[in-house]
Amino acid sequence: MKDPIKLLTATSQFYSANPSLEDGRLKAHRVEFEVTLRAILQYLPESPAKILDVGGGTGGVPSEVSNSPYSFALAQRGHDVTLVDLSQGLLDTASERITLSPNAPHPNRILQGNALDLLTILPEFEQRSFDIVLLLGPLYHIMSSEGREDAIRQAWTMVKPSGSLFCAWVSRWAHYRDVAMRDPGRLSAKKESYAKHAIGGDYVRLDEFGVAVHAMNHEHPAKMPVVLKKVTGLAEVKMIGTEGVLAGGLDKLVNSLEGDAFEAWVEKCVETGQDEYGWMMSDHIVGVARKV
Ligand SMILES: C[S@@+](CC[C@H](N)C(=O)[O-])C[C@H]1O[C@@H](n2cnc3c(N)ncnc32)[C@H](O)[C@@H]1O
Repeated sequence: MKDPIKLLTATSQFYSANPSLEDGRLKAHRVEFEVTLRAILQYLPESPAKILDVGGGTGGVPSEVSNSPYSFALAQRGHDVTLVDLSQGLLDTASERITLSPNAPHPNRILQGNALDLLTILPEFEQRSFDIVLLLGPLYHIMSSEGREDAIRQAWTMVKPSGSLFCAWVSRWAHYRDVAMRDPGRLSAKKESYAKHAIGGDYVRLDEFGVAVHAMNHEHPAKMPVVLKKVTGLAEVKMIGTEGVLAGGLDKLVNSLEGDAFEAWVEKCVETGQDEYGWMMSDHIVGVARKV
């Protein structure tokens, strides 16, 4: 199955069937979360901001502030957050949280929809009205370069002047490190697929019947800023590697640290992840485009 829309449907069904996998993901990747959140906070205006989190998943765990993914973490800081995701199962988890703790800060709106339909999901008057638009997830799963550019274009349309767009990709190199750690024989066993992967970065996981259950695109780091500049028309964008020097699963022991010991590593990862030569080494890479 190569149809990008069918692959996206398979991925959405996978997420909906496994909400707890995604819900707990950033607890195991605290450095990624902290580095990304700090970057978002740097670009926020002081007054309550209007934020659109596209591909925000379950939105996070409101009772555990330091482990809360972005929608709830930003709502907890007083911002007006709209959460959009393709997977109804993940959004149901977000809605259940709000039902359980209705007085805790939470996203003001939760909308099911595709990043590729953003311009129809939101009313036209909301175009160019958001201080921050997050696209931290959809580009991992849209299986055509035209589709990924379209998702960035639609997200950019929602950003207001002087606002910012945050786009995340998974690095092609991260996938090789992951295979080396989990299943090193795979690289030679699946020689043909890896020859294709080296060119386009598409990776489709099949079940025992050969049916696609999850599809991902792993982008070449050098292409990320090129695509973001092309779509936004900007001459400069900021690139941030969210694991910094701890890419490839090296954050495992750091994850169990607390207080100053953890903070020292977050600072090191902010420094190395924003370094002119360092951002490319990360597993997840965020490009920030600021509208003039
Ligand atoms: C790995 S999760 C990331 C969740 C969260 N934003 C984060 O950074 O931890 C990818 C998310 O993107 C969502 N997603 C994938 N393709 C999408 C699309 N085309 N439109 C909207 N959401 C999409 C998935 O349902 C999932 O919630």
